[in-house]
Amino acid sequence: METIYDILSQEHKLVLGMFEAAMASGSKEALFKIKVEIDPHMAGEEKLYYPLLEEKEESRDIARKAYMEHNEAKALMYELEGMGESSENWTARLNELKEVIIHHVQDEESKVFEKSRNILSQRQAEELAQKYLEFKKSYTGKIEAGESLA
Ligand SMILES: [Fe+2]
Ligand SMILES: [Fe+2]
Repeated sequence: METIYDILSQEHKLVLGMFEAAMASGSKEALFKIKVEIDPHMAGEEKLYYPLLEEKEESRDIARKAYMEHNEAKALMYELEGMGESSENWTARLNELKEVIIHHVQDEESKVFEKSRNILSQRQAEELAQKYLEFKKSYTGKIEAGESLA
């Protein structure tokens, strides 16, 4: 059965590919496609995954760093959303967001996953994958219905 690491890694790969497309086209539409992928991904990690790492002393620091990297990405995304694709800072900001995401993905797939493999059993990692997928489905459903995410 798939673990949380399998699912998150697949999504990371997808998003990194989307950044290549967004850099090539420079379009706002390409940015929104990225947003649709990364918003539920980050929300799912923050709601279901990072809290498990925060509970344990040995992984608390890397979990906190991961939240901070998410916040950095969210701030850049927010800034880009308020910009036109022809704005002179567009490419620079988009590139910054891409770099933040690449760095975060690297941290996650090395340090975060490594620590978490000590903390979660194989079975817990599989159960977490199911919970995460359910969370994402309901998150996306709420967005489509225009409901509040609170
Ligand atoms: Fe991730
Ligand atoms: Fe993350």
